[in-house]
Amino acid sequence: MVDFFMPILDRQNRAIDYLRVSVTDRCNLACTYCKPRTQMRELPHNEILRYEEIGRIVLRAVALGITRVRITGGEPLVRRGVTDFIASLRDVPGIEDVSITTNGVLLEEMADALRAAGVSRLNISLDSLRRSRFREITGSDAWDAVWRGIRRAEDLGFRPIKINVVPVKGLNDDEIADFARLTLDRALHVRFIEFMPIGSNDRWHRDECITTDRIRAVIESALGPLEPYTSERWAGPSDNYRVRRGQGIIGFISPLTKHFCAACRRLRLTPEGKIRPCLLSDTEIDIKSPMRGGCRDEEIDRLLRLALELKPERHYIGDGETQGCRRTMSSIGG
Ligand code: 5AD
Repeated sequence: MVDFFMPILDRQNRAIDYLRVSVTDRCNLACTYCKPRTQMRELPHNEILRYEEIGRIVLRAVALGITRVRITGGEPLVRRGVTDFIASLRDVPGIEDVSITTNGVLLEEMADALRAAGVSRLNISLDSLRRSRFREITGSDAWDAVWRGIRRAEDLGFRPIKINVVPVKGLNDDEIADFARLTLDRALHVRFIEFMPIGSNDRWHRDECITTDRIRAVIESALGPLEPYTSERWAGPSDNYRVRRGQGIIGFISPLTKHFCAACRRLRLTPEGKIRPCLLSDTEIDIKSPMRGGCRDEEIDRLLRLALELKPERHYIGDGETQGCRRTMSSIGG
């Protein structure tokens, strides 16, 4: 039998099977390191892809070998109709999984609908376990709402539930051990992400980025040695561990100190309809304009293949390069 969903390979022979779709550049938080309040410019509605347009691109991507889709933003849950859209993607033959990355603010009220739409894998971005600090970082009082959202997701049986933390020196680095402790008696997967130079702000500085080695040392001195853990069905960029007798998992994502570009399997679709082959490179291919000009599916296929051709071998941050990309994370999609 012919397998129609063989992943396509890029120039580095990487099998690209994962598409991150940012459905909006809007976010109901304004984290100082991610989307500074000075950069709050939002795309006009007509520049953002309609769900039908995203659906069409996803269908073509699936024909080329994409099997997994992650919905991101901005904050994806602020876009009206997102759960129906997700449900429609779940029905596309060839798509094995649709997951979502959210800041959790609207999770409590939307978790049931997400579950019903077929989502089980949930990433929640959370950079502080303290209400007042959460407000300083995000500009919002929503910490309790996020926490209730996480609880609700646990009750509804989402698996895995990953908590993404970006430790930044002087901002939240004194909470590293507290985040790790969440895994002691709960099946949460807490992932520490190295702070990357994303967005044309001057917030990033090499000295503010806490490396994985450092984070790990802090955790081990507080909780004891970490034991390697591997059992993920889809091995991602995260190196995973457990604390002895811990229920959850502690992961490290190290784009700076151990760039995992050789194992990168993803493309991104930005809210305004550009394919972005690499998070840390500003190269993008516009699909929206040809599509709105009435192009045929073959043209979309050609552009998707072009994106693969242009996918860089790797990024060079960590080797002296200090500017990852100029767009903010909130406008690209995490
Ligand atoms: N470096 C690392 N992670 C970042 N995020 C946003 N900006 C950065 C950055 N400069 C994270 C958010 C969220 C995910 C979508 O991206 O914290 O978890």
